[in-house]
Amino acid sequence: MLNVVVLISGGGSNLKALLEAAADPAYPARIVAVGADTDAAGLAHAEAAGVPSFIVRPGDHGSREEWGRAFASAIREHLPRGSENSEGPGDPEGAAGSDEGLVVSAGLMRILPADFVREFSPRLINTHPALLPLYPGAHAVRDALAAGATETGVTVHVIDEGVDTGPVLRQARVEIIPGEPEEELHERIKQLERPLLVQTVRDIALGELSLR
Ligand code: GAR
Repeated sequence: MLNVVVLISGGGSNLKALLEAAADPAYPARIVAVGADTDAAGLAHAEAAGVPSFIVRPGDHGSREEWGRAFASAIREHLPRGSENSEGPGDPEGAAGSDEGLVVSAGLMRILPADFVREFSPRLINTHPALLPLYPGAHAVRDALAAGATETGVTVHVIDEGVDTGPVLRQARVEIIPGEPEEELHERIKQLERPLLVQTVRDIALGELSLR
């Protein structure tokens, strides 16, 4: 069983999809905690599922690096390094590396400091609403529309020290409807994003997708 900490900033519809998937005992990962950098509306999904959550606010720390250290240590409370997360003999042998857990950034709208990335990567993944390497950053959907793109999509990738530059794990494509408002396009992207993220976490948990 792969232990997962999910990081959010907003509504948390991707988190909700992961929580729903993990409610099925056959799903090979469980959400052990949810972390946020602000009073994210999506924390309500964690509460409803009985999953512990924590908020580490950048404003409470002297620098981005200090915030990153505090965020990392809150995650470690739920995901101890090298801990045996397996649930006994029934655990799939194929879940290579699952003893270190997985951190999933699902709508965390903040760049993680380099020390944080070095601590968790490659067991640190992100979902991004564009076909990377196109349209990295905080306004991917808006940027695709502004560029006059005819298609965009979603990428699940390993987080490295750059902004949305880490190795791509999975992508799905979405055609852009001319004149479509940003919010509607983003919602259509999310309809693909949620199952893609659920599937990617499953495949990592089963050792079917390598992070190395
Ligand atoms: C998702 O579309 C995610 O890809 C995006 O925020 C949305 C969060 O939705 N993340 C970024 O843009 C990161 N650069 P949700 O809160 O409903 O899961």
